[in-house]
Amino acid sequence: MDLLQQDQKKLGNNLDTVSIAVEAVMKPSVEMPASAVSVKGYDFNNGIDHGAVIRSMITTGFQATSVGESICEINRMINWRIEDDPSVPADDSLPDPDNPNAPPPPPPKCKIFFGYTSNMISSGLRESIRYLVEHKQVDVIVTSAGGVEEDFIKCLGSTFLASFNVPGKELRDKGLNRIGNLVVPNANYCAFEDWVMPILDEMLDEQKTKGISWTPSKMIHRLGQKINDPSSVAYWAYKNDIPIYCPAITDGSLGDMIYFHSFRNPGLIIDIAADIRSINNHAVYAKKTGMVILGGGVIKHHICNANLMRNGADFSVYINTGQEFDGSDAGARPDEAVSWGKIKIEAKPVKVYADATIVFPLIVAETFAANRDAAPVYTYVAVYSTDIAPFARMDHHQYALLSRSFPGVLWRFKINLTRISQGTVFLGAEGAVPVAAVREAMLRFNMANSDKCFSGGSVNQPSVEQQWTGTLYNTPNQYKQAAQWSQLDTYV
Ligand SMILES: NC(=O)c1ccc[n+]([C@@H]2O[C@H](COP(=O)([O-])OP(=O)(O)OC[C@H]3O[C@@H](n4cnc5c(N)ncnc54)[C@H](O)[C@@H]3O)[C@@H](O)[C@H]2O)c1
Repeated sequence: MDLLQQDQKKLGNNLDTVSIAVEAVMKPSVEMPASAVSVKGYDFNNGIDHGAVIRSMITTGFQATSVGESICEINRMINWRIEDDPSVPADDSLPDPDNPNAPPPPPPKCKIFFGYTSNMISSGLRESIRYLVEHKQVDVIVTSAGGVEEDFIKCLGSTFLASFNVPGKELRDKGLNRIGNLVVPNANYCAFEDWVMPILDEMLDEQKTKGISWTPSKMIHRLGQKINDPSSVAYWAYKNDIPIYCPAITDGSLGDMIYFHSFRNPGLIIDIAADIRSINNHAVYAKKTGMVILGGGVIKHHICNANLMRNGADFSVYINTGQEFDGSDAGARPDEAVSWGKIKIEAKPVKVYADATIVFPLIVAETFAANRDAAPVYTYVAVYSTDIAPFARMDHHQYALLSRSFPGVLWRFKINLTRISQGTVFLGAEGAVPVAAVREAMLRFNMANSDKCFSGGSVNQPSVEQQWTGTLYNTPNQYKQAAQWSQLDTYV
């Protein structure tokens, strides 16, 4: 082959190679669906707006998007309302028959199971956790022993910032205990011993003399009462009657105290069987459940396992650094829990891979803290009518949960009115309702704190039936109509 032929051959081969490369690089794409979301982060030309920075995370990608999705999932938990969810049977709770004039209990909300590992309480995340408990924004808590005792220990002495790198020997010589880049003086644990021992004596005494059967949650409730310090998570859990479960309560300083106590004053029994029944029942009897779990290990599994008893939680957010390649439960993604029936198949669970100390306060800012001002969500509506027929046709399941009919003409409904306004509202019924009758209803239901009261159904306004039936509030227009109507009404 002469040189020319060799050149042509090379060129031919190259042309083939180039065309393959061109085809590979220029591979045509399908049209993206209209629903596809463009990636976009926060533009600081818009000023320093921390809220907007957090809200931009969902379109930022990677774990920022997971943070955004966790915010959406938690807001779904918070805003779930039974009357909006046809898949859940209507609330059938009736007012106390012995006290028929008392307002009925509020309709059930999504029960939020909240878990955190011990080190979260050692860290400044304790303040975010306390906020949620103080404002009754979570319903059932699970933590590990350190998550219980570090909360009390912080009431007795400070935990200090240090470094991950201080040598253990140096710290041991100084009587300082390291948790990551924090240190806790050993003196704090000595103070804890002085504080807790007399309470263990008291508990043992009550066990012997009053037959009290202690469980970890009852013990934590008692300690929360005793600490009497509003900086404490357990104090607010005690005040707000929010149970804190701790199945491994002996695996920490509390266990050390129980051990020492068993020599000094033996006989204290702490029954974990009663607590498993109690936490599982919380899941079983809830209309809807959500899980917010910071970290892994026992606390994560204990919450998920309780939710297995109801064939899965409806909403879930995991925030942890665990990985699944080792088969650990700590690292298991929500989909593994779906396979066990611990998260519902139709749920949209989120896992955020992050240090919870960084992301959880941001998430609280856009969920629990942001929603706090929206409370109270439910209110009571007294309807006076000479003709109850229209109300009988109401779609109670979706809009108004009929609690009870009273002799005569008074019907009482529980309605979610945050979409109109906040506060308690009494709504007069079809036909002109005398303001006096509404006032009487307010007195009767002990609703003197109602901040708005109005009557409706007069000739100038849509009838009550129009307002409260059909798909009221399902469209922005109807929402607007209702809002206008409420403004037109007679405020007392
Ligand atoms: N302050 C303390 O940490 C402390 C104090 C006393 C006793 N203890 C005991 O140590 C034992 C183990 O503690 P534990 O079960 O609470 O949890 P852990 O510290 O063993 O953590 C469990 C998993 O949670 C995840 N995790 C932990 N910290 C995280 C973070 N900041 N962000 C995201 N994910 C995180 C990780 O995947 C980790 O493997 C418990 O029995 C506890 O009572 C701990």
